[in-house]
Amino acid sequence: MDLFNYKNGKLYCEDIAVEELASEFGTPLYIYSANTIKRHIDNFQQAFKDVPTTICYSVKVCSNINILKMVAAQGEAFDVVSGGELYRVLQAGGDPGRVVYAGVGKTDSEIRYAIEQKIGYFNIESEAELENIIKIAGEMGKVVNCALRVNPDVDPKTHTYTTTGKKESKFGVDIERAINVFETYGRNPNIRLCGIHLHIGSPVYTVEPYVEAITKTLAMIDELRTRGFVIDTLDIGGGYAADYTTGKAPSPADYARQIIPLVKDKGLKIILEPGRSIMGNAAIMVSRVNYTKTSGEKNFAIIDGAMNDLIRPMLYGAFHFIWPVNVSEKFAITDRQEVMDMPGLIKTDVVGPICESGDFLAQDRMLPPMKRGDLLAAYTAGAYGYAMASQYNSRPRAVEVLVDGSQAKIIRRRETWADLVAPELI
Ligand SMILES: Cc1ncc(COP(=O)(O)O)c(C=O)c1O
Repeated sequence: MDLFNYKNGKLYCEDIAVEELASEFGTPLYIYSANTIKRHIDNFQQAFKDVPTTICYSVKVCSNINILKMVAAQGEAFDVVSGGELYRVLQAGGDPGRVVYAGVGKTDSEIRYAIEQKIGYFNIESEAELENIIKIAGEMGKVVNCALRVNPDVDPKTHTYTTTGKKESKFGVDIERAINVFETYGRNPNIRLCGIHLHIGSPVYTVEPYVEAITKTLAMIDELRTRGFVIDTLDIGGGYAADYTTGKAPSPADYARQIIPLVKDKGLKIILEPGRSIMGNAAIMVSRVNYTKTSGEKNFAIIDGAMNDLIRPMLYGAFHFIWPVNVSEKFAITDRQEVMDMPGLIKTDVVGPICESGDFLAQDRMLPPMKRGDLLAAYTAGAYGYAMASQYNSRPRAVEVLVDGSQAKIIRRRETWADLVAPELI
């Protein structure tokens, strides 16, 4: 799963004690494990090696250039959703020809930039967007590759905010309308509409929704081919789960076992857009307990990390396993579970200093007793963690550190108060 483990009551990232990193770099602190990232990418590459597959790492989950460089070095391509993400990929030395670009609201300047950079594919989210891309490509005298994103109308059984493949979703076009889109635009000389894109939601903890979505889509591809359209690419999107609690997420091999038989021998190049499954378990966010207090029935640990550092609990009611960085033998753990049943634990709300009641990392969580100065690790923070961080309450964003074996490197320095006001014009 990852390389965050306890040795003699101390949490380590690979070969470095987290406590040492916290002392050196301060808190709140994001710590990434390079070898976890490599392992996760390798698992995907191995799992899908029997079909021609391009793995496009989903930049939105964690977009630090150092992470993108590592991903590119392992031979991965990229999935972007904005001009800014494409810019980051280029800064990281990524190959624009292997970039797929999704997103319902691409602006004219973003489209022009992507065409200039010769990206691999636009993933088309609506007829209106396709018309605009055709117009801009025509003005630029270019022919651009496009894949139509379809909504297969399957339920990925995940949070409503991250359910994207149902009919009423703002993404893509209904699968019934897809044939019509091809008939209307599919022979336009400024585009090569030769792919189908899916992204049903995230995280998807079972393989069945993929099987259902792909099966529906393959029937549609057959129909399109009968009508004379050349479809050579099927982009299955992302959504593969991360292990927020031990052993919950299927492995890439589990997904591949059921997906490969469906797509093999269909004459299709496959694209995957994993993000969370690669980065989720690859980082922790470490905070220090600043105060503890009791209020009514509630026990609070007030930490120096907050919702501006990790917003997922507030945004989605997401669960992050939290545990002290240093523990006595009594509280040693091997599994990260949602409900811990251990004598001596205290029901605790882990909250940040921000002026919002929603500023919490955990509520009513069974945790060892804590005191001022203790360090707490929030696990599975690598995806949609730092990438969603903000400066809310004028809190400078945290530092990001990448650990590779016994080496630690700052990959984004902690922001300062001066950084907060730097872009403001006085
Ligand atoms: C189009 C698309 N592809 C891929 C992803 C990555 O999903 P995940 O991080 O769950 O793999 C997303 C997430 O929102 C997405 O919208």
